[in-house]
Amino acid sequence: MSTIGFLGAGRLAQMLAPKAAKAGWKVILSNSRGPDTMSELVAGIDGDVTAATPADMVTASDVVILAIRWPQIADATAGIDWSGKVVVDATNNRLGPKPEDFIDIGGVRSSDIVAGHVPGARLVKAFNHEPIPVFGQSLPPQDDAKVLFLAGSDEHANALVAQFIRDLGAEPIDLGPIDQGGMLIAMGGPLTNKFKLYTKADAEAAISAAS
Ligand SMILES: NC(=O)c1ccc[n+]([C@@H]2O[C@H](COP(=O)([O-])OP(=O)(O)OC[C@H]3O[C@@H](n4cnc5c(N)ncnc54)[C@H](OP(=O)(O)O)[C@@H]3O)[C@@H](O)[C@H]2O)c1
Repeated sequence: MSTIGFLGAGRLAQMLAPKAAKAGWKVILSNSRGPDTMSELVAGIDGDVTAATPADMVTASDVVILAIRWPQIADATAGIDWSGKVVVDATNNRLGPKPEDFIDIGGVRSSDIVAGHVPGARLVKAFNHEPIPVFGQSLPPQDDAKVLFLAGSDEHANALVAQFIRDLGAEPIDLGPIDQGGMLIAMGGPLTNKFKLYTKADAEAAISAAS
């Protein structure tokens, strides 16, 4: 049994955690206020679900999903040993859906900024390219629209995240290195905000149009 840990226990974590647990993954939730504050949340999810401090969660997890908001990344990741960890960057540099919610990061790749906060981690970008309700409604998929994109520069890390996506019933498409493929799903990228998952054929057409 593999373990998936969530740094942050808000909307994204609460959407994915029950699906991960149902798929047979061990789930660990964490937040800034301590494991005791998540007892009700943990009790409400079927499966092998626990809460821990962020540092203990990272130590115990095979894959860690960054499920904190952009302004929380620095604090949430500080003081943790990230070396060798497979870390999913699900963050976007925005506070909400409105244009004024955009956080200007000066044209720098968001994944480069995130990588700087998790030194030594094997970073994979995923679960950021559609609004949370789209993932919520589409996992497990009901039809052929079941593509989830990922991008990362470490083969083993990409394979592990692809397996997690498969276990959720979806179809992973690996877009390659995070500094290239990751740009297709970074905020405003050509494969983002379709408000439905792609079919494999539509995804391949969109990737080829974007390349
Ligand atoms: N909105 C979308 O549709 C969408 C889609 C894809 C991806 N995303 C991205 O997903 C990420 C999470 O979004 P969300 O809507 O799930 O956020 P959220 O509901 O605000 O949850 C954030 C979580 O982070 C925890 N947190 C805050 N500071 C922390 C710290 N220092 N250490 C540990 N945990 C901390 C919060 O709990 P405490 O305050 O109790 O610590 C909370 O559980 C964002 O980066 C967002 O851009 C959003």
